[in-house]
This record gives sequence, structure tokens and C-alpha cells, in this order.
Amino acid sequence: MEKAEFTVDYFSGEVESALSRISYPATAPGLYAPISYTLDGGGKRLRPVLLLAVFAAVSGRAVEEAMPQALAVEMFHNFTLLHDDVMDDADIRRGRPAVHRRWNASVAILSGDAMLTLSSQLLAQCPRHILPEALALFNTTAMEVYQGQQLDMEFQDMHSVSEADYLEMIRLKTSVLLACACALGAMAADSDNAVRKAFYEYGLNLGLAFQMRDDWLDTYGDPAVFGKQIGGDILNRKKTWLYTKACEDVDAAKALDAAYAGYKADGDEEKLIAAVREIYDSLELGERLVSQAANYAADARRNIACIEMDERAREFFNSLADKAATRDH
Ligand code: IPE
Ligand code: IPE
Ligand code: MG
Ligand code: MG
Ligand code: MG
Repeated sequence: MEKAEFTVDYFSGEVESALSRISYPATAPGLYAPISYTLDGGGKRLRPVLLLAVFAAVSGRAVEEAMPQALAVEMFHNFTLLHDDVMDDADIRRGRPAVHRRWNASVAILSGDAMLTLSSQLLAQCPRHILPEALALFNTTAMEVYQGQQLDMEFQDMHSVSEADYLEMIRLKTSVLLACACALGAMAADSDNAVRKAFYEYGLNLGLAFQMRDDWLDTYGDPAVFGKQIGGDILNRKKTWLYTKACEDVDAAKALDAAYAGYKADGDEEKLIAAVREIYDSLELGERLVSQAANYAADARRNIACIEMDERAREFFNSLADKAATRDH
């Protein structure tokens, strides 16, 4: 059995080869084609990488043992993307047409549902002695993700939301799944509660940095590298960190209202995106976001500072937190 090297490439390579070994029934192939299309379409594999890395760091054992849970979390994440792209009316995912564009919304809904069940089936393959606890955490996390997605959608129709409401929304829609991945890795390593909790908190803070950076990329990213459409959040009037902070400034809030009123009248998407970006730029919100995301990454590093581990593993987790805050895709 191979021992873990502490690099993203090692862990994601293990995930890719395990994903490629998943086979689907021959019945109703149209249900599975979008699933293969999604899973073959790249993606950073951050959640299973975190799960396997925590498992390897805490147990020192080969990662195969924790692979079912890792695949379960990745499958669940990909299910959320199929539905999220319908909800956000997003055209592009991982540089290719989103499933509901390549096929249609019914396909994205049903293949997404199938992925949710496949994720349960994968989780059910984890070692018996941790299954009840793993299932409880997985299900709690899934409900939280739905709550976060519900808030995200409701916020779209609200004029403004507080920064605290924004942070709670992204904790639910994004952070808890990263935290769950970390905790499942610690659980598979039979660690004590303090270690699980530390890694869970690490995942939460890394997740806040990760989603804030996602908001930044949606406005300032390079579409060829990001793999998603730029400006989608602006067009949907999503309550991103940038939008939330702009609303704290009276003049910027008025300028936002004027920009959206203009868009309602003329439907000019490029004009709206440019106008909103200009408002954000006038307050240096891009730079401020980057620095707040770096603070969450630092919190993540602190969460595991007292946990005993190999220095290479610590360096890996520290740099992964920093990367969440500075990534370009
Ligand atoms: C996209 O997640 C959804 C968010 C929580 C921002 P990722 O950025 O991890 O997507 P992939 O899996 O790498 O494509
Ligand atoms: C997604 O948030 C969180 C999920 C649970 C999928 P976003 O809507 O910002 O994710 P992207 O930008 O479409 O990947
Ligand atoms: Mg989206
Ligand atoms: Mg969304
Ligand atoms: Mg986004």
C-alpha cells in the first residue's frame, strides 16, 4: 500500500483514478451520461483532497481506506453544482456548457437527484464502525447546504443584507461541506473529538475564504481560467461580499440602485457589469475582499496549530488554506 505524499496532485490523482472506476447501470443511459460528463469535466476535487489529507495526516495509513467517503463528498458536491447552475441560470461550468444547457433543466434535476443517491451509496461503503456517525454528519451537512442555497436565492430578491447574514449564508452553502470533508477524514482515522473539531473549524474558515474568493473571481476573474461566466453574480443581484459592503456606503448603494434601474430599462448586461464593477472599484472592495479572505485563511491555520502532525502535513494544510483565498479558478 502506498503512503501519502503531501501534495494536492497526489491526493487528487488518487481521487481521479477512483472516480474513473465508478461504473453505471446500463438501464436508462440518459440518466448517467450527464453524470459522467460532470465528473469527467475536471474540478479541483478540493473536498475529497481535504478528506484524504486529513485522514492521512492523522492516521498515517494509505488513503484507499477513506476513499468511499471521499467519493461520496465529491459526488454530493457535483450534485449541488447541477442544481445550482439551474438555480443561478449559469451557462458555463468548468469551461463547458452547464448540464442544463448541454441537455435541459429536467436532465439536470434528475441526474442531480441520482448523484445525491449515488453519494449516499458511496458513503454506505465506509467502515461499519463509523457509518452511523458519518451518516449523521453527512445528512446534517446536506440540510445545511440546502438552507444556504435557499438563503442565497432569497437574498437575490432582497435589496441588501448585512455582512453577518452574508457570512452565515456562505457558511451554510459552502463552508460546512468543506468542514464535513475534514471531519470525515478525521473520523476515518479514529481520531478523538478535539482533533475532529479542530479540522472541522479549519474547514469552516477555509470555506469562508474559498467562497469569498469565488465571489471575487465572479467579478474580477479571467473566464478562460475560472471556467465560469464572469458577472453572473452581478446579473443575478447576488448578495456577494462585494455587494454587501458596497451597500454600507450610502452613495455606492444609490449608485447600485441606479445601475440596476438602468439594466431593468435597457437589459444591457455588459453595461451593468461594468457599472457595478466601477462602484466596487471606487471603494477598493476587491482589495478589501482579498485581505479579509486572507484573515479567514489565517484563522484556518490557527485552528489546527495545536494539532500534532508531521510538518509536511501542516505545511500542506496551511498552504491549502492560503490557496483557497488566492486561487484563480
Ligand atoms: C464551486 O466549487 C462551488 C462553490 C462552492 C464556489 P468548486 O470551486 O470547488 O468547484 P470545482 O469542483 O473545482 O469545479
Ligand atoms: C455555490 O455558490 C454553492 C453551492 C452549494 C453549489 P455559487 O453559486 O457561487 O457557486 P458557483 O460560482 O456557481 O460555482
Ligand atoms: Mg452558481
Ligand atoms: Mg449559487
Ligand atoms: Mg460563485
